[in-house]
Amino acid sequence: MKVYEIQKGSTSLEGLRRGERPDPQPGPHEVLVRMRATALNYRDQGILTGRYFGGTVTRNLIPLSDGAGDVVAVGPGVTRFKPGDLVVPTFFQVWIAGPRTAARGALGSPLDGTLCEYMVLHEDGFVAAPKGLSPEEACTLGCAALTAWNGLMVAGKQVKPGDTVLCMGTGGVSIFALQLARAAGARVIITSSSDEKLERARKLGASDGINYKRFPEWEKEVARLTDGRGVDCVVEVGGMGTLQRSFQTVGLGGKVALIGVLTGENGSANPHGLMFKDASLHGIGVGNRVMFEDMNRAIEANKIKPVIDKFFSFENAADAYREHGAGNFLGKVVIRI
Ligand SMILES: NC(=O)c1ccc[n+]([C@@H]2O[C@H](COP(=O)([O-])OP(=O)(O)OC[C@H]3O[C@@H](n4cnc5c(N)ncnc54)[C@H](OP(=O)(O)O)[C@@H]3O)[C@@H](O)[C@H]2O)c1
Repeated sequence: MKVYEIQKGSTSLEGLRRGERPDPQPGPHEVLVRMRATALNYRDQGILTGRYFGGTVTRNLIPLSDGAGDVVAVGPGVTRFKPGDLVVPTFFQVWIAGPRTAARGALGSPLDGTLCEYMVLHEDGFVAAPKGLSPEEACTLGCAALTAWNGLMVAGKQVKPGDTVLCMGTGGVSIFALQLARAAGARVIITSSSDEKLERARKLGASDGINYKRFPEWEKEVARLTDGRGVDCVVEVGGMGTLQRSFQTVGLGGKVALIGVLTGENGSANPHGLMFKDASLHGIGVGNRVMFEDMNRAIEANKIKPVIDKFFSFENAADAYREHGAGNFLGKVVIRI
């Protein structure tokens, strides 16, 4: 089968190469899937360039964690799926329910990922795609959408109608958070470096947009927009460069869902002020399969369509990495396989 591999020790896009691997066969309780589409997440750039946790990849690795495809064969004992089903592999292989009790392998690093023609995984490592979504749409859910869902709906207090949610930037996690929060009846304030992207976010349901380049002290704008109350949930993808402002912007009884590292992992932030607001801080690690299946029900019931800005062919996967790395997108960048 055709694959892409990140070469051992890769530090740049030069390290992404086309390759061939033997066609996989399903063993007991395994499912063989013809992959149809995959999507990029921020971490995929770090894995390619050796900046992800743990440094450069230590073997030739099939990249990317997002994917969707058709079941073509099942091994003995499989009960969850049958040929013809459209399925999505879970980010962690396999974390079904409850808290994360041990390090779980994730697709795209350290496990081989989704930028390939066929995948074989244990049947427990897939979920059914939500009804009504194309493979291109379904492939975007495994990392960004589930992380947003976990931050909004699972960690701490669930977001409820009338709440206000702050989303940072217009990448995958943030745009899914915008859509899921709106479906839950919440108001969404969003930030971006681009006025054009803010306009698009408004069309997707954001009530207000703040350009964080023009308003580096965006927490003051949030305070103005909420009459000084602050927000009920911050979808904190910014990391150490934004965390202190997130502590300031969260309101009484609110929560900060700590997700991202866009401005870096090192620095200082003081959570002490949360104490005076009965506010909380929650670390988010994507999510488990039960959360994924709950989210898919919400996606189906609310007819949520993932926002895909750009499509690339399998042959042009390197261009997808380039475009995504340059930030020339809103929502998701998808590669058809
Ligand atoms: N903890 C977890 O389980 C988990 C899961 C998924 C992702 N993450 C992390 O979450 C972050 C976002 O991931 P993603 O895949 O959604 O990223 P992405 O799709 O690549 O989106 C990146 C976007 O972030 C925005 N951005 C960059 N710097 C910013 C800043 N200083 N303030 C506000 N927004 C900024 C930009 O939006 P504009 O162009 O609009 O400015 C950019 O387009 C990453 O750090 C990723 O590692 C963590």
